[in-house]
Amino acid sequence: MEKLPTIAIIGAGNVGGNLGVRLSQSGLEVCFGVRPGKSIDALLGRCGPGASVTSPAEAAAAAEVIFIAVPAAAAVDAARSLGDLAGKIVVDCNNPLRWDQGPVWSPPPEGSLSAAIAAACPGARVVKAFNTFGAEFHLDPTLPGGPIDVELAGDDPSAKATVAAIAERAGFGVIDAGPLRSAALLENLAILWIHLATVGGQGRTIGWRLLRRG
Ligand SMILES: NC(=O)c1ccc[n+]([C@@H]2O[C@H](COP(=O)([O-])OP(=O)(O)OC[C@H]3O[C@@H](n4cnc5c(N)ncnc54)[C@H](OP(=O)(O)O)[C@@H]3O)[C@@H](O)[C@H]2O)c1
Repeated sequence: MEKLPTIAIIGAGNVGGNLGVRLSQSGLEVCFGVRPGKSIDALLGRCGPGASVTSPAEAAAAAEVIFIAVPAAAAVDAARSLGDLAGKIVVDCNNPLRWDQGPVWSPPPEGSLSAAIAAACPGARVVKAFNTFGAEFHLDPTLPGGPIDVELAGDDPSAKATVAAIAERAGFGVIDAGPLRSAALLENLAILWIHLATVGGQGRTIGWRLLRRG
């Protein structure tokens, strides 16, 4: 079997929890990084064999790939608090938004949340991914006709290839959306999903997939 990397998931909420269940049930080695005093026994009970929990910094130190799935306003500080991430793959699942009768993209001055995380974590190989659909899909990527797509944006091709392998192993489709500057596009794709799912009245079972006619 192909050797897949060890994974830390920082944040064990809707996205981090569901992703951890899905990835661990797909045979990947997952360790959740949670803050002191938080119990995730029930979540671990839903995970595949070998899933574990420790502090965010310890989970990140032991992992090759670190998913960050915390409130967007906390994401840069959470990433910075993990210590030296040089050489590690950091997957940014977060969407910076405010609410004004619907979701409004609110990126930091760096131009996207992913760019801000990259600036805060020197040497980290940042990939934007797993941000453009609701957390129900992190648990189950199924859509009629095939799985939902994970769009990837990043400047390091081998980091993107690793994240693509993780996504495919867990049953997701994969679309390479180009360099890290495309993270701004993916954050906006997420904002559109949130708009459609909420004020747009479509509900949370909708998802993006690239279709071809040949
Ligand atoms: N919900 C969705 O459908 C969805 C879909 C795509 C992307 N996203 C994005 O995914 C991110 C997470 O969303 P969510 O719905 O999963 O949020 P959530 O359910 O509120 O979970 C956030 C988690 O982050 C933890 N956390 C907060 N600050 C932390 C820190 N500094 N270090 C470590 N853990 C920390 C929280 O732990 P405590 O219990 O200790 O506070 C909680 O477990 C957001 O940025 C959102 O934009 C959400």
